[in-house]
Amino acid sequence: KKAKIYIDKNFVIDKVDNRLFGSFIEHLGRAVYTGIYEPDHPKADEKGFRKDVIDLVKELNVSIVRYPGGNFVSGYNWEDGVGPKEKRPKKLELAWRSLEPNEFGTNEFMKWCKLVNTEPMMSINLGTRGTDEARNFVEYCNFPGGSYFSDLRKQHGYNDPHNIKVWCLGNEMDGPWQIGHKTALEYARLAEETAKVMKLVDPNLSLVASGSSGWHIPTFGEWEATVLEHTYDYVDFISLHAYYDNYENNIENFLAKSIDMDSYIKSAVAACDYVKGRKKTNKTIYISFDEWNVWFHSRKEDEKVEPWQIAPPLLEDVYTFEDALLVGLMLITLLKHADRVKIACLAQLVNVIAPIMTRKGGGAWRQTIFYPFMHASNFGRGTVLQPVVSVGTYDTKDFKGVPFVDAVPVFNEEKSELTIFAVNRAQDKMEFDCELKGFEDYSVIEHIILENNDLKAVNTEDNPDNVKPHNNGNARNEGGKVKANLSPLSWNVIRLK
Ligand code: AHR
Repeated sequence: KKAKIYIDKNFVIDKVDNRLFGSFIEHLGRAVYTGIYEPDHPKADEKGFRKDVIDLVKELNVSIVRYPGGNFVSGYNWEDGVGPKEKRPKKLELAWRSLEPNEFGTNEFMKWCKLVNTEPMMSINLGTRGTDEARNFVEYCNFPGGSYFSDLRKQHGYNDPHNIKVWCLGNEMDGPWQIGHKTALEYARLAEETAKVMKLVDPNLSLVASGSSGWHIPTFGEWEATVLEHTYDYVDFISLHAYYDNYENNIENFLAKSIDMDSYIKSAVAACDYVKGRKKTNKTIYISFDEWNVWFHSRKEDEKVEPWQIAPPLLEDVYTFEDALLVGLMLITLLKHADRVKIACLAQLVNVIAPIMTRKGGGAWRQTIFYPFMHASNFGRGTVLQPVVSVGTYDTKDFKGVPFVDAVPVFNEEKSELTIFAVNRAQDKMEFDCELKGFEDYSVIEHIILENNDLKAVNTEDNPDNVKPHNNGNARNEGGKVKANLSPLSWNVIRLK
């Protein structure tokens, strides 16, 4: 099979917002406790943070981390997680029906963000709570001092304000499962008033309105229009969430699911611009795709987990090689929408549907999906160029005209590097020709490939390198072009300088 990609330095989509390579830590299962925080672990630092996990998070170069939820946040009282640890209450956590010890809270999270060199993205509870708690929380986090809540922060040992810029106005408020679920109008008005008041405390906030929890939910579109009709002046983003599965064990259809993500983004952008048109404003609302991943392996097991445990094993998907391919395709999709998607969070980061796994008291290892994220995050910063790919297509149960190859080029001007990310969806080898305009003097420095004969191959603590990339790809300069072979069903990173 053959594919051709045409790349022109002048055909720019947009600069990549670094926050496209974000992730998510929720108080859910073992994400926090025995994930990023485990005080009696041999590798924990004096604050209780696991250093082995910190090292892996740094490898991913995660730019922003959403916290503390997710569904969790809709029943969370932020006050429970600050102040002396011995005084913090142990509470019933209703979203995941666990016990929450509150040993870890906002200040611990902020410390951890500094250690992994990432920006926080704080979500607030608009399920059981509202405007008053939100404005107090912003005062606690961001006000320099001389007021009740800012002085409380100082008393807790944090003299300087945290200056958290990005805040999510609730989580998946359209979903019937959400604690404090609301109609579009109920949420829109609450988000509007809360946003207004939060910005009175700190005008520099960048706010994310809660969009639909998925685009197949019947209220999609109408929800976005109603929410933005009310919140347009106060927010910069609307959130999107999507998780994909391969229950039917159909690789062709599974790998086509990034097309669903692409259509979802286009539809959400249309909903944003519909309101923009109605309001006759120049302000553009951007997309925060703040939950995306593959999620299905653990769902049956989770039904068996006893409630009211501290940090039970929940959502511990063990990712296969084929999952890594879809994650790569989703990264390509996000990059192609760099003009409108400015924040994206791989959900989640550690143990819970995550690229990093840990064992309590034991090791930490990289799941298969770690690699495409790491490559995109490290080599995908710069400017996305419009890819024109000429390749054959195939049809599946749910999708028509699925291209065998999906690819996107990112030009990093500072480093004078061009990186082409490409997934070969075909089960045969693909001859891949790149026609480059404006990069005539560039030559291949590396061709990284993630490939495996076994689509279901996984990494475990005992076999952590079962699925890992190599850089023996054959991308080469030939007759003014770059030519490469893409292995059957593979993730490719072709780097030129
Ligand atoms: O990421 C897991 C859960 O998925 C989140 O808590 C929720 O927002 C979504 O439904």
